[in-house]
Amino acid sequence: MRDLISIEDLSAADLVSVLELADDFAEVQARDMPKVPALRGRTVVLAFFEDSTRTRTSFDIAARRLSADVVNFSAGASSLKKGESLRDTIETITAMGVDSIVVRHASSGVPTMISQWTDAAVVNAGDGWHQHPTQALLDCYTIRERMNLVEGEQPFAGKRIALVGDIKHSRVARSNAQAFTKLGAEVVLVAPQTLLPSSIVGWPVSVEASLDDVIGDLDVAYFLRIQKERMGAGLLPSDREYRTRFGLTVDRAQYLRPDALVMHPGPMNRGVEIDPEVADDPRAVVLGQVANGVPVRMAVLYSVLGPGRFDEQDAPTESEGQAEPAGDPMATASPSADAAVASGAVGA
Ligand code: NCD
Repeated sequence: MRDLISIEDLSAADLVSVLELADDFAEVQARDMPKVPALRGRTVVLAFFEDSTRTRTSFDIAARRLSADVVNFSAGASSLKKGESLRDTIETITAMGVDSIVVRHASSGVPTMISQWTDAAVVNAGDGWHQHPTQALLDCYTIRERMNLVEGEQPFAGKRIALVGDIKHSRVARSNAQAFTKLGAEVVLVAPQTLLPSSIVGWPVSVEASLDDVIGDLDVAYFLRIQKERMGAGLLPSDREYRTRFGLTVDRAQYLRPDALVMHPGPMNRGVEIDPEVADDPRAVVLGQVANGVPVRMAVLYSVLGPGRFDEQDAPTESEGQAEPAGDPMATASPSADAAVASGAVGA
């Protein structure tokens, strides 16, 4: 596969292979010089048409740690402001010879459209309410790491995970429900009726109206942000009422199992989805999720651009005259290693 648009496109085996590759890149992260030449000579454009702190920064760091060249495209400072269409913008970027476009956009489906306009590998960094596949992958990585679940293609079998809160507007909920169930977990949605999707036909989940009824029986309690920027009026009576029924309050956290994980994709509204004291509880792994975003996104970029891509048939061959990345993605990018790769001495 050349693009990563949706978790739907990945099998359980694909998910596991990205997580295993991320293990290798996590090992690179721990080195004094956390950089490898795996994507040397490749250019990655970060095209974010919607705000982002952690996703953009972590793709940027991930690409640089693979020695790719990174271009930050800023929609607000581009010719889109002068009326250029999205298609012309993407074709313009592509004409400069980029290898991958990482896209975030407020409208669902934009990464799919872009993939039809460019030969570059498209990675979805969040589109509307639709999908956020790298968030799902880094969340799977975090659960697997914290619970030590490394066996087979169904490592989450027997685990019960609740996605709590604003499911309706959440691309994270859609991606994560698919990824968690593909890996064998049971997923339950816990939300007020107004924040559930109008239909959950096709969602591999059950629904519960009361957080208190399920909280003591969860392996993972995953809280979603109340996404006011996507919400019409009248869906929530007040933040206070929401917190009382669906927030992880200090009182409610007492009923969570001692070995349960508390997760949130960020940005958190402390005091709404999660009380400030609980956000700092040892069971909360929110910063661990952020940290894992880097090796997981290294694994994704390497999977779509490196020789280890999902679909080997798409990989450029030497006869096409393209520079291949180094054969060993974990080889350190020291000046001497770089020189060796440039001279063709190391698996290029
Ligand atoms: C999420 C997003 O943008 O979809 N954040 C993130 O990428 N970490 C979730 C959110 O905004 O609530």
